[in-house]
Amino acid sequence: MSKIKVSLTEKDNSYEVVIRRGCINDVGQELDLNRKVLIVTDEGVPAEYAEKVAACSGQPFIVTIGEGEEHKSLESFDLLLNKMLQEGFSRKDCVVAVGGGVVGDLAGFAASAYMRGVDFYNIPTTILSQVDSSVGGKTAINYGGLKNIVGAFYQPKRVLIDIDLTKTLTDRQISNGLSEALKMGMTFDAGLVNIFKRDDYMEHLEEIVTRSIELKTNVVEQDEKEAGLRKVLNFGHTIGHGIELATNEEKLYHGECVSIGMVAMSSAEVRKELIPILDRLNLPTSCDVDGEEVYRMMCHDKKASGAMVSAVFCEKVGEYKLQDVTLVSLKDRVRSVTD
Ligand SMILES: NC(=O)c1ccc[n+]([C@@H]2O[C@H](COP(=O)([O-])OP(=O)(O)OC[C@H]3O[C@@H](n4cnc5c(N)ncnc54)[C@H](O)[C@@H]3O)[C@@H](O)[C@H]2O)c1
Ligand SMILES: [Zn+2]
Repeated sequence: MSKIKVSLTEKDNSYEVVIRRGCINDVGQELDLNRKVLIVTDEGVPAEYAEKVAACSGQPFIVTIGEGEEHKSLESFDLLLNKMLQEGFSRKDCVVAVGGGVVGDLAGFAASAYMRGVDFYNIPTTILSQVDSSVGGKTAINYGGLKNIVGAFYQPKRVLIDIDLTKTLTDRQISNGLSEALKMGMTFDAGLVNIFKRDDYMEHLEEIVTRSIELKTNVVEQDEKEAGLRKVLNFGHTIGHGIELATNEEKLYHGECVSIGMVAMSSAEVRKELIPILDRLNLPTSCDVDGEEVYRMMCHDKKASGAMVSAVFCEKVGEYKLQDVTLVSLKDRVRSVTD
């Protein structure tokens, strides 16, 4: 078990991340649930997780949204606000997310907006949300066909991580999330990368999650609003996003696109270490998507190929190089991982 403090400039916004197996069973000890509690989950999350939170709550109201990215929407946001209003939620009541990044981003945004902000607790249930999205205070919904375009920086009061909840995930979802943990190791922590070199890396899941949260916390504390260092968390994401947009989402998960993007942004030396790890994790290292299309997608929101992007390179495992480059200068790297 560990507790990681996220210390932010506004002291009131600081909070703790508690990592403890089985903590879902006694959430009442960790969170102040003796009030009205809006518990947000989705259809793909085992219903018993939200029910366990409800069992520890004073006045629980479970809202189950549809499963998948398309439900991180204005309609779902409306549903949550409506429920709180109908049930007479006040400023003193709270919202608890029980799910992956979709549920966390949506519920956090609803909590930020209702009466200008009610307490928000996050109980992430996917590896991706445990190692990445539950810390950092970014909340959002998708709107007008654009991802995360409407949202707020809103810190949770506490994050509870129970890694036993991830046992119900598919192997592919597990690898998808581990890709983001590996990403943090590649740029900040060679020791974390070494864990993935072992065949029994899943025995070390608690350490992987804990180290990832510590790394992300460290970055977020130094750069709350993404002015600099936080950009390093985008390692693998510039080309990864291009791939994500160029394929239909059914085909490749976000973490899988990031995995290919990491290969692209690594030096030849680093690739020799990275590729066997990705193979072990069953993550892709290249794709048969048209490279020109990927490049077009990368340019899409930048308007011009001469546009500058902050690119993150890895030339030594555990270290990063952050550099503003033109998109066109990344073209060869795109080609090296696409068709
Ligand atoms: N806020 C941030 O800083 C941040 C960072 C990274 C990603 N994100 C967001 O996170 C989202 C992706 O998160 P995700 O990968 O967790 O996706 P997700 O929330 O869609 O979860 C993936 C799938 O797993 C299912 N699921 C969740 N928990 C489960 C469990 N314990 N057992 C079985 N199935 C379970 C869900 O129903 C869903 O089908 C994206 O919307 C992305 O924009 C946000
Ligand atoms: Zn990501």
